[in-house]
Amino acid sequence: MSDRVAVRVCFVCLGNICRSPTAEGVFLKLVREAGLESSFVVDSAGTGSWHVGAPADARARATAKRRGIELVSRARQFKPDDFDRFDVVVAMDHTNAADLRAMARAPSEAAKVRLLRDFGAPGDHGQAVPDPYYGGDDGFEVVFDLCEVACSGLLDAMRPDLAADPDNRADSGGLPASDPPPSRG
Ligand code: 4NP
Repeated sequence: MSDRVAVRVCFVCLGNICRSPTAEGVFLKLVREAGLESSFVVDSAGTGSWHVGAPADARARATAKRRGIELVSRARQFKPDDFDRFDVVVAMDHTNAADLRAMARAPSEAAKVRLLRDFGAPGDHGQAVPDPYYGGDDGFEVVFDLCEVACSGLLDAMRPDLAADPDNRADSGGLPASDPPPSRG
């Protein structure tokens, strides 16, 4: 982080219409509440291309709206050069994380990939945010709850680095190195 002020965070799931737009919206709300808008660039993307250009799933939007958040993102596919544009790439599940690491062009890019729930409650570590797409409305509530807890932990984990001089900030938003990638999907 030499001449940048903001930490750039991209949340990634499969379709970019359910989980990652929810995480993006939740994280943005926390950032705004903390008065840290100028410290972050926040985005989301999917590893798949099926829904490119689509708004977030209506069930994700309805759940978020009930909880005070408007999801306004349009789906896009994560591309290798997104590793140039983001400091931290936050995957929703192990398959997303493995696909992202396979896309990385260097170990330093693979090291940017983190699992969202690793920033949640201690019992959440190593767990996936479950894919709600083929399930009922309840699944979207679960996703929202998990995103709230883990996004709060993620923001807390990056706060010390935000306080540092931009010229002296660590890579990966100042997050400690992640554990070795898990083998399950
Ligand atoms: P997301 O959910 O990865 O949380 O956006 C999904 C959305 C669409 C599909 C799968 C998961 N799909 O198969 O189209």
